[in-house]
Amino acid sequence: MTLEIRNVSKVFPGQRKGMFGRGDGFKALDDVSLSVRKGQSFGLVGESGSGKTTLTRCILRLESVSAGSVLFDGEDIHALSAQAMRRLRARMQIVFQDPYASLNPRMTVHDIVAEPMVIHQDTVGFGARQRTDRVVELLLQVGLRSEHLFRYPHEFSGGQRQRIGIARALAVGPELLILDEPTSALDVSVQAEVLNLLHRLQEELGLTYFFISHDLGVVRYICDDVAVIYRGQIVEQGPCESIFDAPQNDYTRILLEAMPDPDPERSPFRTGE
Ligand SMILES: Nc1ncnc2c1ncn2[C@@H]1O[C@H](COP(=O)(O)OP(=O)(O)OP(=O)(O)O)[C@@H](O)[C@H]1O
Ligand SMILES: [Mg+2]
Repeated sequence: MTLEIRNVSKVFPGQRKGMFGRGDGFKALDDVSLSVRKGQSFGLVGESGSGKTTLTRCILRLESVSAGSVLFDGEDIHALSAQAMRRLRARMQIVFQDPYASLNPRMTVHDIVAEPMVIHQDTVGFGARQRTDRVVELLLQVGLRSEHLFRYPHEFSGGQRQRIGIARALAVGPELLILDEPTSALDVSVQAEVLNLLHRLQEELGLTYFFISHDLGVVRYICDDVAVIYRGQIVEQGPCESIFDAPQNDYTRILLEAMPDPDPERSPFRTGE
């Protein structure tokens, strides 16, 4: 698969401004272009409010685009029929930032992880028994155990919950995982474990990652290529090494200077698994 974002802009309608009617709107994404290759980890970094989540929502077609196109395997996803889009959704799954908020507290781990297989039943075609087998397999794959099957999210630590979120995202065998700050709600030591898990899963399953973070240390550890977004515009992109070693853009330099230790050899995430 390939993911290509071509000249995407997104304008949110403006607030009502008193008696003079609507404002101009807010341009959350401004002419964004980037491309993600199969098997690659593509990082998107930028401060809060820079448009990272908006871009992922446009990729998943949870949000329309105001201009430009999102091409998945060359097909413009914003032009697909609802049915074609449903099939495509099984091929790209998302892991959210907050494992507390993103798991339904009233569902068991089994039901949480099995749910995408139910939603995409017509694509994956699993019966109930096969789904349970697959859930067990997924739990083991993310470092949990079959005893965890019928427990509820509150019985798990933050790191374990994010493992459940990852198992759920993997359930229907996606090719692209969108990871929106998947570890930023976790303690640093737990972050390292989850990042190592993501690293291993990517190699084992040949996944492609679109990895969002405001933490350049995390991006440097996990990503091949990186794009820096500032106020809805990509200000710099390229291979991680060249961006980190020789940033061309002032904003990238400011981000790098604010980083405690950009050297991956000394990164707290390089713990080995
Ligand atoms: N539905 C919406 N309506 C209006 N404005 C929105 C909407 N969604 C996002 N925005 C605005 O678009 C901008 C980008 O938001 P976005 O959530 O994409 O940022 P982000 O880079 O993901 O930030 P964070 O790191 O805090 O998650 C923000 O200024 C936000 O207020
Ligand atoms: Mg966000």
